Amino acid sequence: MRNVSFIRAVQLVSLSAVFSILTPLSILAEDKEMGQFIDNLMNKMTLEEKIGQLNLASGNTAAAILSGGESLVDEIKSGLIGATGGSSFEAIKKMQEASQQSRLKIPLLIGLDVIHGYHTVFPIPLALSCTWDVDLIEESARIAAREASAIGVNWTYSPMVDISRDPRWGRVSEGGGEDPWWGSQVATAMVRGYQGDDLKKSNTIMACVKHFALYGASEAGRDYNTVDMSRQQMLNDYLPPYRAAFDAGAGSAMSSFNLVDGIPATGNHWLMTDLLRRQWGWNGFVVTDFNAINEMVAHGIGDSLRVAELALKAGIDMDMQSEAFITYLKSSLDSGHITETDINQACRRVLEAKYKLGLFDDPYRYINEKRAATELLTGEHLAFARKIAARSMILLKNENNLLPLKKEGKIAVVGPFANDRGNLLGAWVMKRDKSKMASVTEGIRAVGGNRVEVVTAKGANITDDPYLLASLNSPFAMYMGEAIEQESRTPRQLLDEALQVSADADVIVAVLGESAAMSGEASSRSDISIPESQQNLLRALTATGKPVVLLLLNGRPLTLPWESEHVPAILEAWAPGTASGYAIADVLFGDYNPSGRLTMTFPRSVGQIPLYYNYKNTGRPFHAQNKFTSKYLDVPNEPLYPFGYGLSYTTFDYGDVHLDKTELQGSQDMLMASVNVTNTGNCEGEEVVQLYITDPIARISRPVKELKGCQKIFLCPGETRKVTFSITVNDLKYYDTDGHYDWDGGEFFIQIGANSAAVKSAGCVWNR
Ligand code: BGC
Ligand code: BGC
Repeated sequence: MRNVSFIRAVQLVSLSAVFSILTPLSILAEDKEMGQFIDNLMNKMTLEEKIGQLNLASGNTAAAILSGGESLVDEIKSGLIGATGGSSFEAIKKMQEASQQSRLKIPLLIGLDVIHGYHTVFPIPLALSCTWDVDLIEESARIAAREASAIGVNWTYSPMVDISRDPRWGRVSEGGGEDPWWGSQVATAMVRGYQGDDLKKSNTIMACVKHFALYGASEAGRDYNTVDMSRQQMLNDYLPPYRAAFDAGAGSAMSSFNLVDGIPATGNHWLMTDLLRRQWGWNGFVVTDFNAINEMVAHGIGDSLRVAELALKAGIDMDMQSEAFITYLKSSLDSGHITETDINQACRRVLEAKYKLGLFDDPYRYINEKRAATELLTGEHLAFARKIAARSMILLKNENNLLPLKKEGKIAVVGPFANDRGNLLGAWVMKRDKSKMASVTEGIRAVGGNRVEVVTAKGANITDDPYLLASLNSPFAMYMGEAIEQESRTPRQLLDEALQVSADADVIVAVLGESAAMSGEASSRSDISIPESQQNLLRALTATGKPVVLLLLNGRPLTLPWESEHVPAILEAWAPGTASGYAIADVLFGDYNPSGRLTMTFPRSVGQIPLYYNYKNTGRPFHAQNKFTSKYLDVPNEPLYPFGYGLSYTTFDYGDVHLDKTELQGSQDMLMASVNVTNTGNCEGEEVVQLYITDPIARISRPVKELKGCQKIFLCPGETRKVTFSITVNDLKYYDTDGHYDWDGGEFFIQIGANSAAVKSAGCVWNR
């Protein structure tokens, strides 16, 4: 049938081969032109104007402008601001007009957190990654760019490519999961989607890879916390997705808040210059995260003046919100702690970004009243949102084929999210427009048709825990989601209503999980279960003896020990975005057969964290009969649901792994590994065939297995398809303790299967 990723991979290889022959000359010419243009411009710039280019005034500046705050406009006119942000067409227009009244008319970069769609909201990034479909992910970023650029945005603070193994960290919702290989594919797709083939086009925007680097390893999953890790772990497990995004041509990067080797990323010369620019050869510009220069004072690195110098010296080009560069760099220059060359270098990189976006040709390229009025939330975008949302959901359990639901009978839709809209958009949404949304109940009504009777009740508050409630409703928390409103009715009254409403239902859909603000930035949780108020509801619903489908809405992996045992069907829907209600109903009724697969491990208990599939063996691997092996007394080592896991309404059978040879020689050799996959069920469906490799003996201890490829295939009932992966030594390489990127000759196990814990294996020997 179809094999998009494979065909695409082949096309990419041949395209890049053509490019490498044809483009160097034209790229060189373009670079030269850009260099001359910027030389000319910089010759005219005063020191203040150069430092002004390094200053990003973000925050709610746009709102300030609209409410009459003119000071920002004045600063722009004085050339003291190089970039700003906004999500209002009028404000952006006004700011860009101000830039054109400055002495040298240098246009502004307009940045915004366009994270998972803009006006049309797509599923949260973690959910997008669960589609295992780079074409769809790229298209989602493409549409986000089209919509954001329509209101004047030319730069997005995305993709976030931080690998994380800790679901307590709320920001796992913003990334592509735990795996470096898949994370790299996602990163590449996002950059391509935003930037397209030509950054100068009015509907492409510049990507900003964040948060460089290692932010996802915040200790204990507590946001902004310390990070400390070995170089080989950085290089093998955490850095690859950033590198992939840079190699894909991302125009900018954002420094992270955390320490890297004891020095904050924002002041880390090794990271920002030695690695990023010298070793990796990347030539974009680096902006700090929000206020990150100032925060180096609290990190204990120096006073405000010293940390500003340190950031510039490390290789930071733009200061987001600290106003440290604009305040201190001139005096640092006077005192000789920095040089004009340092400032020139940063200024040049910022100007290059503006040049690459075509802003010098036309500062209003992205500011087009007609587009702003016609290109948001279009029918086409909404249809795509529904398509990708359905594909991001994961069927975790489906006892006795309870799902898909029949389009007849009585369905009780119960839970605090059953009639909600806002929380289904997830965290990091700039336009919380619900006008085109359907709630889960409405989606079920619409897709179920007139033979389905739908009844509904809230059943419980999202949480009754006063501490959690206070955190969720604290000032500023609304940036990640919406305030939670408590019912005036008691929990008992809510529950009674739910039980009464569902008394003669044929099936109950319990819509439970996390509110939008329970994940995202500054939204760490120490307990990642469904809040107790909702668990009580679920237990009561299950106790009725009626079949219950648990529909989960959440921004991170959850611990579901009771649920996985006692509830017959569980569908993980994450936060699906604008098309939530319809897409959920599409999957519940089987109009779309779920094909999402987990990109993050679901632990059994929070005490197992960090828990991830590509762990390293200990010297004492688990043994049930031997106490002195690596394990817990109270819980198995295995996760509840492993990386790569997900069910379908059909079933797939895997044949044995076939290798075209079992002995290979040298770095030019190539191995073909194949497997026959058969749809053994009753309906058509998509399967994500996953390739893992194990390198059992090496210079350093290596992961028990590593994902190295995947293919999403479509199979009709009874159909068998041979899936083939080609493997080269690039798939065997890793960084050793000295930072050498190399491979070891010897034995390898090639494993193919439906998820990281269900693979078939074949061995080969590959000598150097
Ligand atoms: C976040 C970034 C975001 C920035 C600008 C910071 O607090 O860490 O991810 O891009 O704010 O809104
Ligand atoms: C323990 C050591 C102990 C040794 C000899 C090992 O399993 O880790 O602490 O000294 O056995 O009994």
